[in-house]
Amino acid sequence: MTIVIAIDGPAAAGKGTLSRRIAETYGFHHLDTGLTYRATAKALLDAGLPLDDEPVAAKVAETLELAGLDRDILSKHEIGEAASKIAVMSSVRKALVTAQRAFSKKAPGTVLDGRDIGTVVCPDALVKLYVTASPEVRAQRRYDEILARGAAADYEAIFADVKQRDARDMGRADSPLKPAEDAHLLDTSEMSIEAAFQAAKSIIDAAL
Ligand code: C5P
Repeated sequence: MTIVIAIDGPAAAGKGTLSRRIAETYGFHHLDTGLTYRATAKALLDAGLPLDDEPVAAKVAETLELAGLDRDILSKHEIGEAASKIAVMSSVRKALVTAQRAFSKKAPGTVLDGRDIGTVVCPDALVKLYVTASPEVRAQRRYDEILARGAAADYEAIFADVKQRDARDMGRADSPLKPAEDAHLLDTSEMSIEAAFQAAKSIIDAAL
């Protein structure tokens, strides 16, 4: 039976780094489900299609290929914004969740990270982690990342963006961001990446 590890949490909480490291450690396949929403949004933007036409967005979501999703290409701020707008549409979610569930069945195991993995996509996952950090810490991490790349950053703008994205992801009617009832909460506000990984590893090892 395939082992599924579900990792949810808000933007910039450190889920991505943690998920990749867990997948590597256990030899599991990894899907960053945020990329599926981002790729759908980018396809709409590239084609000059509107972001508020649900049937059109759903058609694009239905034809999305999971192979070759690339965070470097999809990391732009506008794509993240557009992704969180189309992510409120139920028919877009339905199409992407179908593809994500198919991915989750790959042997010997999978790690999926996103907003609704433990609650909707893989409710039977063996381990569910809800990774979070305060909005201030998440904004600071994003700010430091941008400066480290040598680009200019505005902390207040990033902080406002983090809060706005949280409100949209937690406030939507379909699959809002929230911890599954049986999720392990991991608040990384005061933790290094290494400490967060060790905490996650102990939880997973205890379940295997
Ligand atoms: O995680 P990332 O920032 O790449 O996700 C982009 C947007 O996609 C999120 O703000 C969220 O609205 C949406 N998303 C979602 N469900 C997921 C993953 C991402 O609604 N499982």
